[in-house]
Amino acid sequence: MDGNGRWAEKNGLERVFGHKEGVSSVRSVVEGAGEMGIEYLTLYAFSTENWNRPKEEVDALMGLLVQAIVNETDNLDKNNVSLRAIGDLASMPPEVQSNLAGAIDKTAENTGLRLVLALSYSGRWELAEATRRIADALKNDKIDKSSINEELIAKYLPTFGLPDPDLLIRTGGDFRVSNFLLWQIAYTELYFTHKLWPEYRKEDLFEAVKDFQKRERRFGKTSEQIRI
Ligand code: FPP
Repeated sequence: MDGNGRWAEKNGLERVFGHKEGVSSVRSVVEGAGEMGIEYLTLYAFSTENWNRPKEEVDALMGLLVQAIVNETDNLDKNNVSLRAIGDLASMPPEVQSNLAGAIDKTAENTGLRLVLALSYSGRWELAEATRRIADALKNDKIDKSSINEELIAKYLPTFGLPDPDLLIRTGGDFRVSNFLLWQIAYTELYFTHKLWPEYRKEDLFEAVKDFQKRERRFGKTSEQIRI
């Protein structure tokens, strides 16, 4: 969800107002995803690297997160959305942790859109985390070295149970992945837009999905093979 700061600047506002407007985009996109019948939506809300931003901006983002969770949980619940989070959640402020845990608990039984928040998350962090967990399992004789394969690694990632994404959308005009779901996006379709996140709405998500539908996904095979 890139471009909040630039949107604020463009409108003569402090960066935090970009993040505030970004919450409206989150609402619209979550609504749109539900309407389209998308099953999983993961939002990169705060990266491991974002901790290096000025303290005021980090504090403002944490405050916004708490506010969004408090204000939106009932609405998510009514719309059958279930919430989950991935990342180094223990590093989040206690207020975020407790509100998040409450919202996850409240929406746990819902069967509609699975909304995943990536918080204090980075792809490299989770690969290191999975490696630590696998090392523990080896040490405690729970697994054998010969059983380490792609499937087992996926089981030790915090995204276990979530399918690999079909489509990754990056807003804000940068053409990079920025440490997002590095393991999981091996065959994900990438979509880049210049729109800044605070300007992004469900109609833009529909556009991205339409573009995705035109693509041929070969997963390493030939066109001929996959047309069979
Ligand atoms: C990147 O834009 C955006 C973020 C680091 C924060 C995203 C957070 C929200 C939209 C609000 C809370 C989220 C939820 C799920 C309720 P940037 O600041 O890097 O923008 P720039 O590239 O223009 O500087």
